[in-house]
Order: sequence, then C-alpha cells, then structure tokens
Amino acid sequence: MTSAAQRAASGGPGWLNPLRDKRDKRMPRIPGPCGLVIFGVTGDLARKKLMPAIYDLANRGLLPASFSLVGFARREWADENFSQVVHDAVKKNARTPFRQEVWDRLAEGIRFVQGSFDDEGAFARLTETLEKLDAERGTAGNHAFYLSIPPNAFQMVCEQLQKSGLARPQNGRWSRVVIEKPFGHDLQSARELNAVVNSVFPEESVFRIDHYLGKETVQNILALRFANELYEPIWNANYVDSVQITMSEDIGLGGRAGYYDGVGAARDVIQNHLLQLLALVGMEEPANFGPRQLQAEKIKMLSATRLMHPLDQTTARGQYAAGWQGSVKVPGLLEEEGFSKDSTTETFAAIALEVDNRRWAGVPFFLRTGKRLARRVTEVALILKKAPFLPFDKTMTEELGQNALVIRIQPDEGITTRFGSKVPGSQMEVRDVSMDFSYGSAFAEDSPEAYERLILDVLLGEPSLFPVNAEVELSWEILDPVLNYWAEHGRPEAYESGTWGPPSAFDMLHRMGREWRRP
Ligand code: BG6
Repeated sequence: MTSAAQRAASGGPGWLNPLRDKRDKRMPRIPGPCGLVIFGVTGDLARKKLMPAIYDLANRGLLPASFSLVGFARREWADENFSQVVHDAVKKNARTPFRQEVWDRLAEGIRFVQGSFDDEGAFARLTETLEKLDAERGTAGNHAFYLSIPPNAFQMVCEQLQKSGLARPQNGRWSRVVIEKPFGHDLQSARELNAVVNSVFPEESVFRIDHYLGKETVQNILALRFANELYEPIWNANYVDSVQITMSEDIGLGGRAGYYDGVGAARDVIQNHLLQLLALVGMEEPANFGPRQLQAEKIKMLSATRLMHPLDQTTARGQYAAGWQGSVKVPGLLEEEGFSKDSTTETFAAIALEVDNRRWAGVPFFLRTGKRLARRVTEVALILKKAPFLPFDKTMTEELGQNALVIRIQPDEGITTRFGSKVPGSQMEVRDVSMDFSYGSAFAEDSPEAYERLILDVLLGEPSLFPVNAEVELSWEILDPVLNYWAEHGRPEAYESGTWGPPSAFDMLHRMGREWRRP
C-alpha cells in the first residue's frame, strides 16, 4: 500500500477526517482531569464572567471531579478569602440556580497564591500548589492559565510560567494559555504580542478569547447558512445589496476610563467581535467543522476584505455628549470620571468594507458600533436588492422597502425575515411585514453564557471558537489605515446620548445611496 493509501485506510489525521470520530456529537463532553489558574482574579471580568461561568459548568455537570481553581493576585488572601470572593461572585452573577452541594464540591478545589507577576517566589509557590493539587485531587498535571490581566503583563507572566516549567509540561500532560483582548493596539504591536506569547506557548496551546464566538447566536450563523437550502443560493452579490453589522450599546463608559481612554470603539469591538461576525457571514463553506477548516475559511475571507475609500466619506466616528437614556439624564464622555477633558477617544465608529472575491464583489459591508446609543442591540442584516421589476402601480408599493434577513445576535435572540405582503382590503397595496424566529419560543433550554462554552472548550482543548494569530493580525491590517487616518484628522463628532450616533454616520450611508437600519 502507498503511504497515502495507508493514511486513508487509517482514517488520516483526525482533523482531516471528521468521519473517523464516530462519537455522537450531541452528547456533552467532559474534560479530563485538570485545573484552571486565573491571573487577575481581582478584576471585573473574573468576578462578573469567569467565576460564575465556572460554577455554571460545575452545576451542569460539565467539569471533571478533580477540577481545581487557583487564583493568583497580589492581595493578602488565604484560600478561604478567595473562596469567599468566588462564592459571592457566583451568588451574584451565575446563570443557573445556586445549589449548596455543587458549591461545596467546587470549593474543595479552590486555592489562592499570593504574589506579583515579577516575583519568582510566587511562581514557585504556584508550582507547589499545582503539584499538591495533582497529588491530592488528581488534576494530573494538566493546567490552563487564564491571563485576565493587561497585555503589558503578558510577557512577564509567560516568561515566569516558562521558567517554572509550567508552560511546557512533559509526559503527555498539557498546558494552555488563555488570553483576553486587546491583542495589541495595531498590527505592529499585535505581531509583537503574538511573538512573545508564541515564544513560550506553541500556537496550538494559545486560546484567544473573543467572547462573541462563544455566543449561541453567533454559532448559529454557520447552522443557518450551511444546514439549509433556503438561504445559501441568495447569499451573494447577485441578490445581496449590502450587509450591515450593528453592535449598539446603551451603557456609557463611567468606570472604564483606565481601559477605554485612548482605545476607542474601533479597537475595542470592530477589530475583534465585528470583524469575526463579518468573517462568519461572508466566508465560504468549510470542508467540515474541524477547527483548521473553519479558521482557513475565516482567514480567506479576512484576507479579501479591505476598507472602502476615501476614508473621509466611508467612515464616521463620534463621541457621546450628555443626553437622556430613557428618563435618566446621563453625562457626556468628557464628564465621565477618569477621561481627560480633551480626550479624542471615539465612542462610536462606523466603517465601510468591500470584499474582493466573486461572492461579494460590489457588496458593501457596513460595520457600526457605539456606546450610549438608543438601545442595546447586536444584529447582522443582509439587505437584499430590490426586485428587478414591480408589476404594480407606484402608489401600491410606496411602503415596500428592500427584503432583509436579520440575524438578531442579542438581546431577543433570533432571526427576522422582512418582505412585502398585501395589505388586507379590496385594493392591492404592498407593505413590509416580518416573520420571526425566536430562540425563546423555539427552544426550551436557555442558552449558556459565552464564557461557559469558551472555558469548557479550553479545558477540552477544542480550538474552533478561538481566533488564531493570523485572524488577529489580518483584522489589524484591515483597521490600521482608518485608525491612522483618524489620528491625523481632528476629533470625533459629538452625538447626543440616547440617539443613533453622529450625523456623519447617516451622511456616510446616504452618500452611498443606503440607510442604516433602525433596529
Ligand atoms: C467587550 C467590550 O468586548 O464587549 C465592551 O470591551 C463591550 O466595551 C462588551 O461592552 C459587550 O459585550 P456583550 O456580550 O454585552 O455584547
């Protein structure tokens, strides 16, 4: 037999041949023995998302019996103090009901290591703690290290993990590192950051969190597109006029100046969440749902994507000014605590992109995001072309717009189709109506939180939902020119809180003969 034939007979490498894996993929998988170490346990993310997600996984029976959680921070805490912090965070923020017996079991594996990132002694204590857990609880030398810390500390923590031998364990044990955005602030810094992380952890052990990919509704984009015959035939430039991706938030930035000032809306969410949505909506069908196939298709899509020009007409940015959020009067960004009075940080950003491939040639992708907008909503809308001919009198179709397919990522998760329908009566009059699918009414189960899915996948070593190095760098490559352009051209335009953003965002679409959807 040739070696190719031998490979085929043996099923080939697992990632090439999903058929080899005969497991029923509907059954939940439980990770093998392992522990999770969180750096940055005193931060908001740990308390609001990570600790509750770990409890929710335990509550759903998805963690191994040996599972242990180790917190690492500077606070003078004993194990019990840290355990109390986790307990309070779980009680306050967990998705599933609190059950004492689940908590008691989880709490048995909670430890705390006190120290700073530059303290070798602290890493020696961490190693000792992990070895003890291996012996006492059977975590088997398998560890995930979650860096919920500022990126400028990544290098030090990675190096300390390397020195203490925790980064590349031997004898079939695994060590994984989980990093949170921001993955740099431009292409150059992202490359440097990736080089630092990859000098310690091989790429297959690096899990970059983009929590949007952990959302059920985001994963459903692939099901909608590739499990159905209904949509894919029209999913291209022959039928689609434009794609609009909106992530609007009603919250302001009070309390987040430390992270947000100087970063802005484009770096905060367009570089990651919105470009990942674009990749999933625009990519070709992968050969299968193996991680490499998925990543390869997203990479292809991002490689074909670029900004439309000229940037003064195809982009818009704004900064929220005081206004009303419902009945509450809210301050503008410049009055928020911690922001400098002349901050030019944008809290609203909109860009127009085009995709150089056969499927999307000539179809603009409009991306927008903002804080203190009228409503919290994230959606992806495919706006279809107008019918080539309407056999009606003009007056009969005055209230007929363009057909649209809207994927409602959150809240009110679901899908809406908008189309024209006859208004009941003796005359022919056609008006827009919509047909809705809603998760809430179609399924009995609640969707898990994004972090539950992502933490579980880290422990399982399942990389599909984590952007690789190349995706991160391509996204910066797309965005860098507009960031540079904005840095050199004045300041963002003020918009009143509680509205849909600055007038320039509306002008931008008008110039291109389009209008933003009002979700
Ligand atoms: C984060 C951003 O990544 O996503 C925040 O840093 C934003 O600024 C948040 O508020 C929104 O997440 P979600 O899941 O509430 O849409």
